[in-house]
Amino acid sequence: MCGIVGYIGHRDAFPIIINGLKRLEYRGYDSAGLALYNDKLILKKSKGKVKDLEQLFDNQAQKKGLIGLGHTRWATHGEPNDINAHPHVSNSGNLVIVHNGIIENYDSIKQTLLQRGYRFKSDTDTEVLINLIEDVMNNEQIGLGKAVQIALNQVVGAYAIVVFDRKNPEQIVMARLGSPLAIGIGKDEYFIASDATPFIEFTKNALYLEDEQMAIIQKGKDPQIRNIKDDKLVVPYIQELQLSLDQIEKGGYEHFMLKEIYEQPGVIRDTMRGRVLADQNLIKLSGIDNHLSKFLNAKRIIMIGAGTSWHAGLVGEYLFEELARVPVEVEYSSEFRYRNPIINENDIVIPVSQSGETADTLAAIKLAKQKNAFIYAICNVVGSSIPRESHSGTYTHAGPEIGVASTKAFTTQVMVMAMMALKLAKEKGTVSISEYNMYLSELENIPNKIEKTLESDLYIQQIAHHYKDAANALYLGRGFNFPVALEGALKLKEISYIHAEGYPAAEMKHGPIALIDENMPVVVIATKKGQYEKIISNIQEIKSRKGKIIAIVTEGDQQVKALADHVIEIPETLEAFTPFLATVPLQLLSYYIAVYRGCNVDQPRNLAKSVTVE
Ligand code: M6R
Repeated sequence: MCGIVGYIGHRDAFPIIINGLKRLEYRGYDSAGLALYNDKLILKKSKGKVKDLEQLFDNQAQKKGLIGLGHTRWATHGEPNDINAHPHVSNSGNLVIVHNGIIENYDSIKQTLLQRGYRFKSDTDTEVLINLIEDVMNNEQIGLGKAVQIALNQVVGAYAIVVFDRKNPEQIVMARLGSPLAIGIGKDEYFIASDATPFIEFTKNALYLEDEQMAIIQKGKDPQIRNIKDDKLVVPYIQELQLSLDQIEKGGYEHFMLKEIYEQPGVIRDTMRGRVLADQNLIKLSGIDNHLSKFLNAKRIIMIGAGTSWHAGLVGEYLFEELARVPVEVEYSSEFRYRNPIINENDIVIPVSQSGETADTLAAIKLAKQKNAFIYAICNVVGSSIPRESHSGTYTHAGPEIGVASTKAFTTQVMVMAMMALKLAKEKGTVSISEYNMYLSELENIPNKIEKTLESDLYIQQIAHHYKDAANALYLGRGFNFPVALEGALKLKEISYIHAEGYPAAEMKHGPIALIDENMPVVVIATKKGQYEKIISNIQEIKSRKGKIIAIVTEGDQQVKALADHVIEIPETLEAFTPFLATVPLQLLSYYIAVYRGCNVDQPRNLAKSVTVE
């Protein structure tokens, strides 16, 4: 987590860095800081948001400087306060650093540096690292680039760091291991950031550092990329960004989350574009086509992910097993990576991730690769670490997701899984041609049906108002909609701070039913297909304990309507595709409840969008 922005060139660095930090605030927002150099170092840091930091620069003179570094923090070491905020400065006052990640052996390095006379103002691992770099520089009498390379070979952990030396303000040095760093290349200027959004209006030419690489950039010179381990030069790969400015702005919506919920019909069309060719009865996924025999011979698929991406994996389990008849296991990346998993020949590991940077998922991929698994990523962010570490994969094309609560990432991940499962089902003959055609043409209807679902917005607002003060909520679903219940509960708890639990509906009587009384809202996904009668029985059980029932039903349903306190209708679809539609009202419900409770919807407390630490 944490967002990094840097600039060196011919423009004032201040507005570039402040605006860039605002775009990266999704990565962490406990505290922020900015350092500029213009004959003297101006360094300001503040607990809280980037706008609090901005206010500290209260006169124009302080905003001058053609080189600078900024940081928005998600605290790991030390509480979020002004002192622990980045940038940090070395003991001499010359070296300035921003850091995203964790230096695990910082304490032993700190003890050595203390003995050597260094002093520390903050509790951070980052201040230790910058003083280690300074120590190496002084001892070896070498330049900053070489000192960074030597120092990083002594540290254990994960990092994206950016450093400059105020005695040489023509140069910036950066390095990455586990946390992302992009360099925007302009004319006689460079932009550095955790992702490309801070510099998209200035340049489309970007270079992404790979793990264990560092870069030395200097005004008027080509970037120099080196391997951290052996200091060898690497040929830089500069790519053209596809991102546009309007994709990362709110476009008239009050929050990114609402914008992203409403973007779902459009981005799902993007996910299918050029891939679902219903007129030719074809699904084209080059990743699968290029590795078809691996998929046809797969004895098992293991999906790995975290949070919402893990929930998407659970829907994938139902889809792959139902359509392609291949056994699927779904694992939390954080558990998988530490439990010596059994991976057999012909297993395929599918990491699922919006950001492509989740540390646990990345580590799980590395482990699976060591065990010779074939890795096929489902990811949103093009060029991010997870697809780069994988053998092949499919991008979701959801566009930038900025709200911390994942919405369009989920539905597009499920769309990729539906396409994959259906394609394999056809190749394996596990569905008949007529079933295949039926699924394929219904896939194409999904965006329109989501548009229809979004028409319930006003009614969902009323329901949200009714339950905004609830202390707890229960979400129940069966089959394909059990993961939807989990996802609905996660959405509510993460943005409104209401305690919520998702369960398979039948599990209710094994414990959670004890919680139900007249104050407990229970959200039940009760669509017509699937185990409809069983879910009606579950609704009866809730009703007889006076629970308040909010049901997601198929258009025209009368039976549930007669029992529930509120019903939200979704269009009829195939059972396997109900998650696309049932998820949307749950996203809106959480969104409006959080808004009514006055919560910061896009930046919920304690969270960060991309979790690049364990
Ligand atoms: O970027 P990823 O999909 O790998 O992120 C996984 C989770 O951190 C993420 O889904 C998280 O749970 C969201 N806040 C959920 O809304």
